[in-house]
Amino acid sequence: CGIVGCVGRGEETLSTLVHGLSKLEYRGYDSAGVALADGDLDVVKRAGELDDLRAALDGDSLSGRVGIGHTRWSTHGPPTDANAHPHRDCTERVAVVHNGIIENYEDLKADLLEAGHEFRSDTDTEVVPHLVEDRLAAGDDPEAAVRAAVSRLEGSYAIAVVVAGDDRVFAAREDSPLVLGLGDDAYYLASDVPAFREFTDRVVYLEDGEFAVISADEWRVTDDEGRRIDRDVDTVEWSPEETGKSGYDHFMLKEIHEQPRSLRQCLRERVSELAGSVSLDVDVDPDGVQFVACGTSYHAALCGVHLFQQAGIPAQAFLASEYATSPPPVDGDLVVGVTQSGETADTLSALREAKRRGAETLAVTNVVGSSVSRECDQTLYIRAGPEIGVAATKTFSSQVVALALLVLSLTGASRHDIAALRDLPGNVQQVLDESDAEEIARAYEGSDAYFFIGRGLQFPVSLEGALKFKEISYEHAEGFAAGELKHGPLALVTENTPVFALVTGDGEQARKTIGNVKEVEARGAPVVAVTDGKSDVHRYADHVLDIPASDQRTAAILANVQLQLVSYHAAALLGRSIDKPRNLAKSVTVE
Ligand code: G6P
Repeated sequence: CGIVGCVGRGEETLSTLVHGLSKLEYRGYDSAGVALADGDLDVVKRAGELDDLRAALDGDSLSGRVGIGHTRWSTHGPPTDANAHPHRDCTERVAVVHNGIIENYEDLKADLLEAGHEFRSDTDTEVVPHLVEDRLAAGDDPEAAVRAAVSRLEGSYAIAVVVAGDDRVFAAREDSPLVLGLGDDAYYLASDVPAFREFTDRVVYLEDGEFAVISADEWRVTDDEGRRIDRDVDTVEWSPEETGKSGYDHFMLKEIHEQPRSLRQCLRERVSELAGSVSLDVDVDPDGVQFVACGTSYHAALCGVHLFQQAGIPAQAFLASEYATSPPPVDGDLVVGVTQSGETADTLSALREAKRRGAETLAVTNVVGSSVSRECDQTLYIRAGPEIGVAATKTFSSQVVALALLVLSLTGASRHDIAALRDLPGNVQQVLDESDAEEIARAYEGSDAYFFIGRGLQFPVSLEGALKFKEISYEHAEGFAAGELKHGPLALVTENTPVFALVTGDGEQARKTIGNVKEVEARGAPVVAVTDGKSDVHRYADHVLDIPASDQRTAAILANVQLQLVSYHAAALLGRSIDKPRNLAKSVTVE
């Protein structure tokens, strides 16, 4: 979910809130709402996308300076108008938006029902306005009432509250991100910086347990006892344009095309061609590495396993949501959380488990000031720039490169290593310029299923290729280790299931994967080879997606760029909601 808040000196708060929500839609988009509070409390909220809220606001002459807003990704209760945020109390004086889960809401709700409160939604959030209402009725001023309500909550939350007639927005954070924006004419509050980046680059990241108050001319951060905390003001380094589509039809396509640049940013000042070395701002010397991650980041972590193991450092990757079910011993191991957003609840929870067991932790993330970077001992930023499309693209390639840099900084880099990294952005550009992915997507539109196979580093890329494909096209797609095909999945292969075979290099592994290609060919399946041309796989393929010749590590990233484009074009042909696929959110802050 995404939260926004604003107190301005003019009357444009409503448009600022709606603009902010449009920038946070990647965090959830099954309902949205706003509340304005400097007078009576006005709340407008709708199930559906932000456009449904815009349509509902169209006829309204709402105005005001003090407001909050929310874009939702359902956890408690289906996406309906009633379950959309903001939620109100019985007197309709208090409005609350919330991101996270209030674990003790059932107990709180039972007490409130007992005391005569009436609830209008199925959400956990709705307890909060009622708790505030009780404290206001008991004589608390609005700030004290909100503090008292928050002190009763258990779980994870980022919360923003307005009270009718009060010209402030109150906010609290525990395990869910919140950042203040300090503009010249307004103060802002949001789950993430893009919500207000157009208006200011001066930000204050809230920490867990902190409480913030913004008014037209003051911002204040305090601890849970109300004591003022002096906070540094950070300056955001990326420009507002980076959160726009820059003429592309979709953010995803723009972000795919940004990869040459984002990879250069990841490499900048870290790789010295002259000295032949890699140096990072990270001080680790692990006996072994355990990765924890979800989704696309998990696939990057699987690439990390290969890179570390090839360099002689034992490594394992865990799905973050599974880590705590049987946590491995951590003696001497570095536990690395790979997470684009830095806010994924499953990943944060696995890292906390590792910490409890005494592990040293490293965050590999894209978002400066994110929860993971605050909680881990050290952070390696992937510097991909803001990624808005729900389907991760440029962050995957930067994660893999950041992990490759980490290995090289530990083991030393050869001239060949450095040259491969130096050439990578240009090689990605060549793939983007020359790709036949659209033609392939067209050729296989309407197939029963899409399979992806590869070995070594190309195995996680096969998984990622399939994940991307299913996420945005809603077609059935699976990735397999090429050698596993004959142990089961081959039963699914028919003339109507194209198989994308990732074959790079001309060694033993390529030869074996070509053997697997022949197996599917014999069952009549069309084969699309993604290849650097070093082997003769093209002889067995119906189509070829070329990638420039490079080393095996960077070849994985190049092959993945081809698959990103195939998925994109397949989804575009089907008219899918590419940047906001159904049921998915970019940053999932619940376990
Ligand atoms: C969500 C997104 C995925 C993403 C995963 C991990 O499920 O839809 O695309 O890979 O979270 O996100 P993270 O921010 O931790 O990399």
